Amino acid sequence: MIIAIDGPAASGKGTMARMLADHYDLAHLDTGALYRGVAWQVLQQGGDPADAETALNAAQNLSISGISGPELRTPEVAAAASIVAAMEPVRAAILQVQRDFAHQPKGAVLDGRDIGTVVCPEADVKLFITASVEERARRRHAELVAGGKDVTFEGVLADLQERDARDSSRAVSPLTQAEDAHLLDTTKLSIEAAFKRACDLIETHSQEGVRH
Ligand code: DC
Repeated sequence: MIIAIDGPAASGKGTMARMLADHYDLAHLDTGALYRGVAWQVLQQGGDPADAETALNAAQNLSISGISGPELRTPEVAAAASIVAAMEPVRAAILQVQRDFAHQPKGAVLDGRDIGTVVCPEADVKLFITASVEERARRRHAELVAGGKDVTFEGVLADLQERDARDSSRAVSPLTQAEDAHLLDTTKLSIEAAFKRACDLIETHSQEGVRH
């Protein structure tokens, strides 16, 4: 079973993806971490994330096992990731890695911006998870403060608005809800309630699959 989860930054899609992967015993790929990994490599080398050649070179040398760690979770890396993610050659360079991951024997859960629309349009279940930008900024601000970062709510809100605009308006694979994705707005939902709804949708889907 392939579960595709898309949504804007800090919508809760990563938490949801991890919970679903645990629950259904599936592997999970946070595809945002791939773009963050590319951005991080560029920044590490003192490069400019807006330079297409540098970004492509980093994308071509990205290893899927090297994409975890707190160094990827900084506002600087997030902003640079959003810049490299708007480049078509960078996206093309990491498309197959994502598809191969999704098509492992048991399937997988992938979360990102274009999973249901581009990476896995054939996914068994698609969820589009969103929340108001203020609520997302509140969550991200709390997360960063808990991690010891010195950030203001206004700064986090402005960063998210800028990233939302760039991720949604870019020419290649913009953030959009797939036609057959289920919308889950978590603005007023706890993660437990959102998770329960997602499981209900997945189980309904599985039962329909058995009937057909
Ligand atoms: O989900 P995130 O904040 O870790 O994503 C980092 C950046 O990568 C974000 O600005 C959008 C981009 N991204 C993308 O374009 N496509 C994906 N499938 C996942 C992330």
